[in-house]
Amino acid sequence: MARIFLHKLIMRNIKHLAIIMDGNGRWAKKKGLPRIEGHKRGVSVIKKIVQSADDMGIKYLTLYSFSTENWKRPKSEVKFLFKLMEENLKKEAENLHKNNIHVLFAGRIDELPLFLQKTILEMKNLTRKNTGLRLIFAINYGGRQEIVDAVNKAFEMNGNKKIDKDMVRKFLYVPDVPDPDIVIRTSGEQRMSNFLTWQSVYSELYFTSKLWPDFDRNDLKRICDDYQKRKRRFGGL
Ligand code: FPP
Repeated sequence: MARIFLHKLIMRNIKHLAIIMDGNGRWAKKKGLPRIEGHKRGVSVIKKIVQSADDMGIKYLTLYSFSTENWKRPKSEVKFLFKLMEENLKKEAENLHKNNIHVLFAGRIDELPLFLQKTILEMKNLTRKNTGLRLIFAINYGGRQEIVDAVNKAFEMNGNKKIDKDMVRKFLYVPDVPDPDIVIRTSGEQRMSNFLTWQSVYSELYFTSKLWPDFDRNDLKRICDDYQKRKRRFGGL
């Protein structure tokens, strides 16, 4: 208990952690399993990492779960992913709620299948008053699309007059979230892939060769410890 408290104290400068959970397919292939087994294993890692982030006192955790480009995958895989999300959101709802976690969603949710939209709405309603970790699932999310959507809304709200940065920020999919301090990508790829394009301009980036299903609490802890050594200047001296 004391250790957790101490850790929370050390990590208090990490408000927002964002993760590109990559490598489920390769993990499965390496084991001679179908890709969907990698996604199933990926979900169990999500559960552990949510708990770890909460234990560390992180306030916002954003997980890239489905991008606007992921529709290019085989229909059967896309369908499987949406079903997996629905099932697990339903299964974990009470537990998340009990742990005071506020679950939010970023992306074009209205383009998702209705069964998933319904589950998302239920989860949002159930947890909306919770004051603990804000857990944000980016689903059907694209950073460029988010900026275009926000600019259009801001423009509309402002009577078609010129808009500024603060106004765009106000209309991002989930407003009132600080920019991510850390963005992690697993699986060895070193790119952002349309993730948090507006928000990540000054984020500290961490790339690990571990595949998402192999990522664990110790990996997260190592990254957060390393973050303590980074000097963030945000363009200043
Ligand atoms: C990346 O691995 C993983 C994804 C695109 C899907 C991640 C989503 C989940 C595990 C479900 C999320 C669950 C909830 C509850 C919202 P990849 O398939 O790109 O792996 P590869 O690069 O090795 O092929």
